[in-house]
Amino acid sequence: MSDPVSQFEFLCPADQLVVDQFIELETRLDDQPCWLVATRRPDGPRAWLNVCPHAGRPLNWAPNQFIRDDQGQLVCAAHGAVFETDGGQCVAGPCQGASLKAVEVIEKDGQILRRVEG
Ligand code: FES
Repeated sequence: MSDPVSQFEFLCPADQLVVDQFIELETRLDDQPCWLVATRRPDGPRAWLNVCPHAGRPLNWAPNQFIRDDQGQLVCAAHGAVFETDGGQCVAGPCQGASLKAVEVIEKDGQILRRVEG
């Protein structure tokens, strides 16, 4: 059995992702426009759907404006759920134990790319 052919979608220049900072990126999933929240970890980029597992709201409080705590964790602006930024798991707040939906991204040739199975 062969692997499916992978394709990649450009999301942003790699230098837009900074450790402990979060940005919004627009993409399309299942042919629908949607927003991602992305950051950089020491071992590479991370991205998740910008949808909180508590009540389905965006995590940011204004366009491209996210709250982070003093440990660099992502805090949902709606009701304060706190997410660690390696795996996107909620570590405190109303949906503790739930996780953000991860979107696979890679860094290549100075670009952040989303893997699209084709
Ligand atoms: S919608 Fe995020 S904590 Fe409620």
